[in-house]
Amino acid sequence: MEIIKVKDYDAMSEAACSFMVERINRIDHPVLGLATGSTPEGLYKRLIEKYKLGEVSFKNVKSFNLDEYVGLDKNDPNSYYYFMKTKLFDHVDIFMDNVRVPNGTADDLQQECQEHENAIRAAGGIDVQLLGIGANGHIGFNEPGTPFTSRTHVVDLEESTIKANSRFFNSIEEVPTQAISMGIETIMNSKEILLLVSGESKAEALAKLLNGEVTEEVPASVLKNHPKVTIIADEAAFSAAGN
Ligand code: GLP
Repeated sequence: MEIIKVKDYDAMSEAACSFMVERINRIDHPVLGLATGSTPEGLYKRLIEKYKLGEVSFKNVKSFNLDEYVGLDKNDPNSYYYFMKTKLFDHVDIFMDNVRVPNGTADDLQQECQEHENAIRAAGGIDVQLLGIGANGHIGFNEPGTPFTSRTHVVDLEESTIKANSRFFNSIEEVPTQAISMGIETIMNSKEILLLVSGESKAEALAKLLNGEVTEEVPASVLKNHPKVTIIADEAAFSAAGN
């Protein structure tokens, strides 16, 4: 595990951008696993800038998103599809046929999960998976207690996650209670993983990941078992880790 400590959110986004651009340019037909949330927003902004400068192109990129709320239409401003479209895809030369965000309004959610898995496999697997982390240590929407053997599945969101994500909604009642998420094993099958961590609210989760044991109670701790993980985290995120 390579750990890169940076000063703040901007420095994290900058370092993450260099990391991603290097991979997108080096890998022949890159398959990316993408994440939503506040954490990668700065990275996406910088990737758009790099694209505009002609320093990176997404025309050979395929992407798979980690998760999506159940019940939100893709045109709903709170859906992760909408997030990805407005914060990245609309501004770069990616082909929309090459992106896949789980469909949270599919009639058969189990089948949708299976199709996400099948599409990842058909693409040859994920080359670089980008991750954020929840304050409770979740990755994707894999809440504490999720089996490490899980594949893409429908999850019941924890109260704390619903509360944390309610900041994007008009009221907490509007936050979906379920989501589709790549499973832990789906994430672990990626060839390389980049975890971004910023801010004091994530400090405890990062400390548990770095200093604690590998346990399903801290989903992100599984990353210690992966051969190629880079963590880019800022000083505030490190504040509880004791290093
Ligand atoms: C959300 C998402 C995760 C994300 C995490 C942190 O619930 N499902 O994919 O990494 O929680 O979000 P944020 O970056 O907004 O803090």
